[in-house]
Amino acid sequence: MMSLERLELAAGLPICRILNGLWQVSGAHGRIDREKALASMAVHADDGFTTWDLADHYGPAEDFVGEFRRRRAAEHGGSALVDLQFLTKWVPRPGPMPPSVVEAAVGVSRRRMGMETLDLLQFHWWDYGDRRYLDALSHLADLRDAGAIRHLALTNFDTEHLATILDHGIRVVSNQVQFSLIDRRPERRMAPLCGERGVHLLAYGTVCGGLLSERYLGQPEPRAGALDTVSLQKYKRMVDAWGGWPLFQELLTTLRAVAHRHGVSIAAVAIRWVLDRPAVAGAILGRRLGLADHRADDARVFTLMLDAEDHTRIEAVLAKSRDLFTLIGDCGDEYR
Ligand SMILES: NC(=O)c1ccc[n+]([C@@H]2O[C@H](COP(=O)([O-])OP(=O)(O)OC[C@H]3O[C@@H](n4cnc5c(N)ncnc54)[C@H](OP(=O)(O)O)[C@@H]3O)[C@@H](O)[C@H]2O)c1
Repeated sequence: MMSLERLELAAGLPICRILNGLWQVSGAHGRIDREKALASMAVHADDGFTTWDLADHYGPAEDFVGEFRRRRAAEHGGSALVDLQFLTKWVPRPGPMPPSVVEAAVGVSRRRMGMETLDLLQFHWWDYGDRRYLDALSHLADLRDAGAIRHLALTNFDTEHLATILDHGIRVVSNQVQFSLIDRRPERRMAPLCGERGVHLLAYGTVCGGLLSERYLGQPEPRAGALDTVSLQKYKRMVDAWGGWPLFQELLTTLRAVAHRHGVSIAAVAIRWVLDRPAVAGAILGRRLGLADHRADDARVFTLMLDAEDHTRIEAVLAKSRDLFTLIGDCGDEYR
């Protein structure tokens, strides 16, 4: 097993600070072969990348987890599952949220993943005008207290609504938000509140779907049609809003120089930079299981320390970008 940084996300829930993101098995990021994907999950876990981020709507992700767990338990015994963490999400359509609806949804994830108790459930809500998110969360908290969920968390909530939830006495462990060299919105209001109230951030979009890598350095601006995953398309739009392709090339050139100093990749620098931000517990890296493998590169993130000179160089480029907080709003506002 590689020596990877771990952190206690909540009592009894240690995670690897680089999490395996399973949106990439949903079908919109290339064709995923089930057997190859399951084999890839096993080698990630064997190497210490033990923490998985998924959702009810990421295609077969929850079923993959169920099958992976069954096979691993059959091969190595039930104790082999103890050191693995599976963080799923519930993303309901807005509507009435009586206990029966909430319990049924949690039941589906428990069945699919083959888990009596879910490690962590992250809740998303599309419409703040509909205050029934508080009903849903209070029933989820009851289910947690009854043992169906170990820990409750959020995804894509803004600072104001995170504060509202906490003020209602609902305990949440973390909020999952977009956070990268390109998207620094969480630094503005979210991270300070998280620091005050003891909530962790889980970051996604850390390498912008792969744009923050050598692959795009020195390349002409890709047309939307040339980007073959929805992740790349999503973050290319972010890059456009942030400052455009020429400034992005300047950032990649600077990151390559920093990466060179430390003998790592551009992606490793981008991931380390996010992991070192206040309130950030982990970075979720999209895994195209069976199609690509970045374990060796990602392990180097944990030996990398960015120094003042690195930060000064990077900051000089970021200072030229537009302010996404003003353009888009707080965390998650792009979904609403
Ligand atoms: N809560 C939400 O709304 C939300 C939204 C988006 C994502 N997420 C979560 O975050 C995860 C990450 O997804 P994302 O779309 O934000 O993508 P991402 O992690 O920014 O990008 C993943 C892609 O980056 C490329 N890459 C280049 N260097 C890498 C390296 N060293 N390590 C890993 N990948 C590298 C890979 O491309 P190749 O495969 O081509 O090599 C990989 O497919 C998702 O799976 C999901 O769990 C959550």
